[in-house]
Amino acid sequence: AAAEKGGFATFMDKEIAEQPAAVADTLRGHFDGTRIVLDEQRLGEDELRTIDKVFVVACGSAYHSGLVAKYAIEHWTRLPVEVELASEFRYRDPVLDRDTLVVAVSQSGETADTLEAVRHARRQRARVLAVCNTNGSQIPRESDAVVYTHAGPEVGVASTKAFLAQITANYLVGLALAQARGTKYADEVARDFQALSEIPRAVEQTLELLEPVRELGRSIADSKAVLFLGRHVGFPVALEGALKLKELAYMHAEGFAAGELKHGPIALVEEGLPVVVVTPSPKSMPLLHSKLLSNIREVQARGARTIVIGEEGDDTIAPFADFLIELPRVPALLQPLVSTIPLQVLAAEIARTRGYDIDKPRNLAKSVTVE
Ligand code: G6P
Repeated sequence: AAAEKGGFATFMDKEIAEQPAAVADTLRGHFDGTRIVLDEQRLGEDELRTIDKVFVVACGSAYHSGLVAKYAIEHWTRLPVEVELASEFRYRDPVLDRDTLVVAVSQSGETADTLEAVRHARRQRARVLAVCNTNGSQIPRESDAVVYTHAGPEVGVASTKAFLAQITANYLVGLALAQARGTKYADEVARDFQALSEIPRAVEQTLELLEPVRELGRSIADSKAVLFLGRHVGFPVALEGALKLKELAYMHAEGFAAGELKHGPIALVEEGLPVVVVTPSPKSMPLLHSKLLSNIREVQARGARTIVIGEEGDDTIAPFADFLIELPRVPALLQPLVSTIPLQVLAAEIARTRGYDIDKPRNLAKSVTVE
């Protein structure tokens, strides 16, 4: 088993370290030098052009990857995008027809609710595209087309590298739609693909910065709860950070849209409560950056211990960060591919310090094939 972990203490540590490859391998083969290519045989550009609405359906971390995708796909394509928990979607009457694209995101390809959501969508003639990490699994078999994530086998029950690969594949879907619809020119698509291709390097740089995050994890391991705040694509990252902490450390953790702070979450803030804030780039998102800055000040003024994830060189946040995690600068919409990583490591280290098996958290299964 030690050999299988490639020198790492756990599969999760190994899988976190494999994230540069998970992103790079998922991109491979999807750009022919001119155009994004998804699943040409089964879902070509003519079909993508007729799509007038997108649903992303998924569970768990895969659902969070869909929330990230919504920001990118709406921005790039001007198509309405709804993101739904598969377990809700399948029991509703979602408004679908043959011009709806349903993107079913699943690492395993076997999650019962996501599979039923696919069947529910197909019965209403929607086009179903699977984003999946497991060759030949049930969800891609029952879908019209598939984009495989190439994260490799993921053993840790709490998703890490598969999540980054899902976000990557979802971006490819968004770019393919934008290209087919003409909402992006060919040179913009090429430039965006190039930006994605540079992400594995930023992921590597991020992985090198994490020792202080592990120390932080050890120092806050006896907290009762942790809050996570974010805006825009940082909001799903906050949700994912909270999910990781629940899954691994059995700690009460909640992710919130930072704009909701005054509508409830701020009542939870008390002396010493760790609050993790995912902050966007001050250069590319100045308005949202300033909003988050005031959110950080608000919670700090009420005694929270602020843990701020920001962009390197952003010196405006440092005075309000009890702990600052500086990430390499990447395009605003792609930030989740780096900002998620310190949250994975933080949760893992808190769980380890509390004495838990981070590969096999209690009560959880890698793949939920029964309801
Ligand atoms: C389980 C796993 C999660 C995963 C979710 C969805 O809850 O523990 O890590 O995000 O299932 O799994 P899927 O295979 O459909 O992506």
